[in-house]
Amino acid sequence: MKTFVIASLLSALSLAQTPAGCNGVLNTSPTLTLTPTPLKTVSNGQSWLMDDNTSNKLYIARVSGTHYQMGHALGELYGEEIAKNIRNLVDYGYGMFLYYSDLEAYIGAEWIRKAIYYSVVVDVLAFILDLNHIVTAPFTPIWFYEEMQGIQDGSRGKVKLEHLRRMNLISEFTRAHCTVVGAWGAATADNKLYHLRTLDWNPEAYLNEYPSLILYEPSIPGEQAYAEVAWLGIVGTITGMSKIGISIGEKVWYIKPGVQYSKYPTWSYFGEPWQLVLKDVLLKAKNMHDVERILTDTYRTAMIHLGVGSAVDNTFRGVEYASNDLIFYDDQNYTRYSTDYHPQYDNLFYYDRHVQPSASTCLKSIFDANYGSITPEMLYKTVGGYHKSGDATIVVMDPAGQKMWIGFSQHMATINAYERSPLYVDLTQFWGA
Ligand SMILES: *[C@@H]1O[C@H](CO)[C@@H](O)[C@H](O)[C@H]1NC(C)=O
Ligand SMILES: *[C@@H]1O[C@H](CO)[C@@H](O)[C@H](O)[C@H]1NC(C)=O
Repeated sequence: MKTFVIASLLSALSLAQTPAGCNGVLNTSPTLTLTPTPLKTVSNGQSWLMDDNTSNKLYIARVSGTHYQMGHALGELYGEEIAKNIRNLVDYGYGMFLYYSDLEAYIGAEWIRKAIYYSVVVDVLAFILDLNHIVTAPFTPIWFYEEMQGIQDGSRGKVKLEHLRRMNLISEFTRAHCTVVGAWGAATADNKLYHLRTLDWNPEAYLNEYPSLILYEPSIPGEQAYAEVAWLGIVGTITGMSKIGISIGEKVWYIKPGVQYSKYPTWSYFGEPWQLVLKDVLLKAKNMHDVERILTDTYRTAMIHLGVGSAVDNTFRGVEYASNDLIFYDDQNYTRYSTDYHPQYDNLFYYDRHVQPSASTCLKSIFDANYGSITPEMLYKTVGGYHKSGDATIVVMDPAGQKMWIGFSQHMATINAYERSPLYVDLTQFWGA
């Protein structure tokens, strides 16, 4: 009887606590502050590993110099791991191929299925990615090739440039949901700007064998130092933050029937791949005005949403980014507010993980209860956990303080990033001069 009362009390309590419209649970995994173990030092770089010995890992590097030199250092530091991660991606593709082709239903022998994938499908995919390279090359910044050439040379040939190039163009074809939150000023507990970027892709993508944080210190005048969170082998930017305090992340943008668009947005394959555009922003933007200018002047390809924070301007923008349109929104003028689902709050901008505008009340419930007391850990654990967003990666960025809270899905286990501990990283301990 007693147990029954306690059990029902507990369940009533947890029911009462689940924010309306959410179907996840609070992430209660403790935040980890791990001492980085130095791995290797080479002429233009250094590497470290954060590892709690229970599969919470982060491969870290700081590299400096020209883009070629930075790539070269990365190749020396992590050539073997990058080569392995390229194979991981190919192997992950096999699982996806089976899933989408339903090949198992009519080809019983695994060796035949593998032969079809590894000797035919992989070549077709490579061919498509090489075509994508041909059509994007005229718009592609030279640093992309320089860094990849450096990685190939630094790895002493373990990594092939064309493999890296293909790996880095896949995001022109994949679509990831994801959540974006920017909170600053009155919305946060300490008035600082925080940027949550969750990546909902697939928690089982084997790339998560090597989750990475790479700090780049380019020596070219006018370029900014910046850090990227991804997996070893990713050269472009999926999630990143510059040393002066610009943060950036993306989310796919799907057309939703019934929604009014000022211009009907389109997806194109001719232009600068979006991962490289994001890296250009971190490299070159000194403030939000620069971000707007760079994105405006770019030949854009994909349809994505962006979240961009700027500690320099102490503000945040949500962006609707398409090949033929580009719209910036702040916390006052987002055009898709709804009092029921997506109310306006000062100093808070967000896109939830669904197709926008979504009818989910989950984030509204969370922000109604937490407005004014938002902290980085609250963004990670409450938003990530209850909203079940960030199956592959979650990152909270503090662009002014140069801190990050980073989580990845667990390698070879189906454990989502949003269920796991955030690794707290103070980037100031890694930045060089
Ligand atoms: C992980 O194991 C290594 C080797 O046994 C040890 O040196 C290190 O302190 C451990 N790290 C943690 C966070 O427990
Ligand atoms: C919203 O306001 C920002 C300035 O805060 C401006 O740059 C942007 O163009 C505005 N967007 C719309 C859709 O009015």
